[in-house]
Amino acid sequence: MSTNILLIGSGAREHAIARSCSKSSLNYKIFCIGSGYNPGIMGKCEDLVVANFNDPNVVTNYAKEHKINYAIIGPENPLQAGIADALWKINVKVFGPTQSLARIETSKEFARKMLKDFNIPGGPIFKSFISLKGVEEFCNDLQNEFVIKFDGLAGGKGVKVFGEHLHGMGQALDYCKNIIDKGGKFLIEEKFIGEEFSLMSFCDGETIQHMPIVQDHKRAYENDTGPNTGGMGTYSNFDHSLPFLEGQDVEAAKRINELTMRALKEKTGMNYMGVLYGGFMAVRDGVRLIEYNARFGDPEAMNVLSLLETDLIEICKAVTEKKLSNIKIQFDKKATVCKYAVPQGYPDSPIKGEKIDTSNVKNIESLYFASVDEVDGNLIESGSRTLAAIGVADTIALAEKTAEEAISNVKGPLFYRKDIGRQNLLNRRIENMRKLRC
Ligand code: AMP
Ligand code: GLY
Repeated sequence: MSTNILLIGSGAREHAIARSCSKSSLNYKIFCIGSGYNPGIMGKCEDLVVANFNDPNVVTNYAKEHKINYAIIGPENPLQAGIADALWKINVKVFGPTQSLARIETSKEFARKMLKDFNIPGGPIFKSFISLKGVEEFCNDLQNEFVIKFDGLAGGKGVKVFGEHLHGMGQALDYCKNIIDKGGKFLIEEKFIGEEFSLMSFCDGETIQHMPIVQDHKRAYENDTGPNTGGMGTYSNFDHSLPFLEGQDVEAAKRINELTMRALKEKTGMNYMGVLYGGFMAVRDGVRLIEYNARFGDPEAMNVLSLLETDLIEICKAVTEKKLSNIKIQFDKKATVCKYAVPQGYPDSPIKGEKIDTSNVKNIESLYFASVDEVDGNLIESGSRTLAAIGVADTIALAEKTAEEAISNVKGPLFYRKDIGRQNLLNRRIENMRKLRC
């Protein structure tokens, strides 16, 4: 009998998960509930339905109908909606944490408080607020080196950094008021200065195994300018570290993820099963934690899953059966570069409904489809990040060439960042870190 796997989500990250599962030597079938008809995923699964995957009834009915054994949850919203909890109740094993454990991503206050209560290093000075009372005073205490964070999911757009997105106390207070008017909570925390990196780890609640470190590029335009996005591209290095990090930074980040997995078990009594994604910053005197995500990153999933040598379905089984200690997860010692092409006008006013053409891309396996629909045999942009190209090679420079070659041959009203993975940008990061630490 085959193992039936339910994939939730239909972006490029889920395309990468589907492609990785398709390399499995096990007898399996993939079913998908998505928000669009991703042509890349459709080619890898038995069935793809477009339905509200944040609705527990929709998901459990589909799971029962298709005799699902395991589920893999891609995005954060279904985690927040308790889809994992609903699936466990009908005996589906879920790769992705339950609602309570997913608070490590869905509530910034929960994450910060837990790390503080368990004395986990890397946290900032912070305070949470539901009104303006004490806001100005706390910002002054932080000597205007602060960040304001909406306490909830906001697709990467809930964080405003003083001096970058907020110019002057007036703008900072307006942003707080905006959140308060909507009945929201916010955190104000110390601003860190340094270079960001992502460390994702497979967890079963007791055992943790780390993936290669990746750096994302949040800003829309070249040289890290323009508005924040879901991520315009990523790279990783053959040694699974990054050129601007020291060995002790990597060890510190690994330790923080491990302590967090253990603290989550102690606090909730439940095992965290899935991916724990630490967003870190290397600073003058070590490593700080920016935030946690409770899932694979997008685009980071494309980097790490392209290198994964271990069978992903075996990993999902081991994670959800708390047997992660029985397998040794291996990644190829290669560098990767991933570049996203996005619709003109992204992220503020992306165009949609326009045709794109991938017929000039030589290696179609280097592409991951995201916000793309297939209509009458044509690929149509559907309004968010469109598709990504990955390069895998011995060096970052060679991987960048491959990614660039593929993405530059995608035709349509799109743009992408040429600079991701290029030596100039890497040198800037290395120099930045060197100056901070000298
Ligand atoms: P988050 O949604 O928490 O990942 O924040 C989005 C972005 O805001 C991060 O990728 C950082 O660039 C920035 N950021 C968040 N927290 C801080 C902080 N404490 N110090 C400096 N930058 C931050
Ligand atoms: N690449 C950032 C994220 O997945 O949240």
